[in-house]
Amino acid sequence: MAHSYKPADVLDVEIMGDERSMHGLFDHLRESDPVAWVEDAEYRPFWSLSKYDDIKRIGSQNDRFLNAPRTMLLPSEAEEMLEQQFGTKNGLETLIHMDKPKHLKLRRVTREWFLPRSIAKLDEEVKVLCKEYVDKMQDMGGECDFIKDITLLYPLRIIMSILGLPRESEATMLKLTQEIFGPLDPDLQRDAGDSDEQMGTLFELGAFFKDIVEDRKKNPSDDLATVLAHAEVDGEPMNELDQMSYFIITATAGHDTTSAVLGAGMKALLEHPEQMTLWRDNPDLDDAASKELMRWVSPVRHMLRTSTEDFELRGKQIKAGDALALWFPAANRDPEAFDKPNTLDITRDPKKHLAFGYGEHMCLGMHLAVLEVARFYRELLPRLKHIELAGEPQWVQANFVGGLKSLPVKYELG
Ligand code: HEM
Repeated sequence: MAHSYKPADVLDVEIMGDERSMHGLFDHLRESDPVAWVEDAEYRPFWSLSKYDDIKRIGSQNDRFLNAPRTMLLPSEAEEMLEQQFGTKNGLETLIHMDKPKHLKLRRVTREWFLPRSIAKLDEEVKVLCKEYVDKMQDMGGECDFIKDITLLYPLRIIMSILGLPRESEATMLKLTQEIFGPLDPDLQRDAGDSDEQMGTLFELGAFFKDIVEDRKKNPSDDLATVLAHAEVDGEPMNELDQMSYFIITATAGHDTTSAVLGAGMKALLEHPEQMTLWRDNPDLDDAASKELMRWVSPVRHMLRTSTEDFELRGKQIKAGDALALWFPAANRDPEAFDKPNTLDITRDPKKHLAFGYGEHMCLGMHLAVLEVARFYRELLPRLKHIELAGEPQWVQANFVGGLKSLPVKYELG
């Protein structure tokens, strides 16, 4: 059924929480109003950008377009409440909430840790975990919920491991991060619309990490938690809020996103079986295929930037202080940037997609995320004799980090 979309639909989590309507909306905006002014009763107004070139250009000019003070779309009421409690509109002070010079100093603290040569050291552990989860699929006897049973758990295990956290804490971490990232989804909400409850989630997560810092100060090891526990900025120990925020961004940014690519990636492969076969038969395509799934799924739907100056974009007058939403899934399906954007093609240029953003804030964990997806499918695909949908896929209702919450599948594994 034809749908008449309007710019404010980017705030409608039912439209945004389903790939078909989300891309229908973005196709419409890209063609009719690629720099759209959005006004809504619950949100402060902002510009909505849906063209690849605009999103790349604005994302990479970090001196002109700032991450503070408005980093993601939140209802004005929530922004006011966070400002009262924390003194910032975001509640947290993580890397994505800050700008130079602090951003560069804090990013430097873990830079080494996330470089490809450091991530390569995790390869064996990642492979062991991939085998464990594909074995689990096999043990489940040919039917599972690919999201709930597999993809939500495997990337979480990796993050827990790099943060040096025990398996026993996994259930708590999963619950808390889902509540932070999926707060608009009735299935994942702690208490619909109750901002006190969301604050409770943040405090609980903070307390969780505080214990780890205390432990690593006494018992250093080579994990990322130890790097954060001993981190210094300008010759002083990193302050507590920065430290907690760092734990929270690493823990949360690192698993829901990767889970989403693995999960919705499987749906894409089921819809493009010839690509699944091509990938299975060509291990040299592991890297490119993983990046094509990043493009396809683009689980981080948007980030906001605030303009420092008046300027004109596609005939629209942007003012200093205006917020601009960069819609990464829209950029990644722009026909001016990608040939046949709605076709999954694991042989396309793997560097071009914007699923990890662009510029100085480009995803810190991107090499790890690509490795996780590549290794998982390299373990799964050659063992997979057959796979098909066994029920209706269900999407998370969210406009910040999106993905599937359920993907029932039937399969035969060897
Ligand atoms: C499929 C997986 C992932 C996707 C699609 C993704 C996407 C993104 C995006 C779009 C940004 C913001 C970029 C910008 O504003 O220009 C970001 C930032 C970030 N990501 Fe990821 N991410 C993924 C996995 C991970 C993993 C595995 C980790 C860590 C373990 C991670 C850690 C971070 C951090 C710390 C930032 C903030 C960087 C900064 O502001 O300097 N991400 N990511």
